[in-house]
Amino acid sequence: MTVEAGFAEGDAVLAADGLVAGYTPGIDILRDLSCRAWPHRISCVVGPNGTGKSTLLKALFGFLRPRNGKVMLRGADVTGTEPHHMLGAGVAYLPQRPSLFPHLTVESNLKLGLWHARVSKAEVRRKLEQAYTRFPVAHEKRNQPAGQLSGGQQRQVEIARSLLTEPPVYLIDEPTAGIDPRTSEDIYELIASLARDAGKAILLVDQDIKSALAIADYVYVVKNGSVASQGSRATFGGDTDALVARWLYASGG
Ligand SMILES: Nc1ncnc2c1ncn2[C@@H]1O[C@H](COP(=O)(O)OP(=O)(O)OP(=O)(O)O)[C@@H](O)[C@H]1O
Ligand SMILES: [Mg+2]
Repeated sequence: MTVEAGFAEGDAVLAADGLVAGYTPGIDILRDLSCRAWPHRISCVVGPNGTGKSTLLKALFGFLRPRNGKVMLRGADVTGTEPHHMLGAGVAYLPQRPSLFPHLTVESNLKLGLWHARVSKAEVRRKLEQAYTRFPVAHEKRNQPAGQLSGGQQRQVEIARSLLTEPPVYLIDEPTAGIDPRTSEDIYELIASLARDAGKAILLVDQDIKSALAIADYVYVVKNGSVASQGSRATFGGDTDALVARWLYASGG
């Protein structure tokens, strides 16, 4: 793999190499997949449905133990490390599927984002207040069961929860599926600012290719469980849509 200027190997905080993973014995969903996340940068993973994008994030976060390959975090081997240890090591994960407890209040759901962190009550309060400032809807609905919120509102609470630990590395799976355009725009702005201003290393999986590419610094096009094409923003120049469409829908897509 050639690494382009500005995306040096040594600068990557999260590095996956040659990942092979699957759910059923004998069936590999990820087939020799490698990718990187760099501080201050958004790496974006796009590809057709069922190609293994969500599986990649699960394998990185420890929900699925890779059959082969390595996951390195700041140079340390974390392959197959369990999710709560990954959280403790500063990696957060926003799953594609809804993950709030519908019968618990919004505030209780948020607090669960800190279950593994040994923080004082005052610190929990401070972090909650921060989340409420960033996500006013979470504040407004804080005493309501999460299941009573709209899909988009629930997504915002999930994002708020995953950010409570102030993770330096953030794995995001389809942040805006089913969310209205206005809220989606806010969410992409937030993700961009998490990288640009807060310096987080972000790996973003998205079907909303247009919005994701608008904020991406580096793109991986995944097909059949491995990277078919990759490149920095400079690679795709002005015409990101056409390039990605060509990558995605070329023969074998
Ligand atoms: N828990 C599971 N058990 C068995 N097979 C699974 C499981 N989760 C996913 N798969 C299979 O793994 C393959 C890749 O699924 P994955 O969810 O990673 O795709 P994806 O690229 O995220 O797709 P989408 O864009 O639709 O979200 C699919 O064939 C899917 O059926
Ligand atoms: Mg998916």
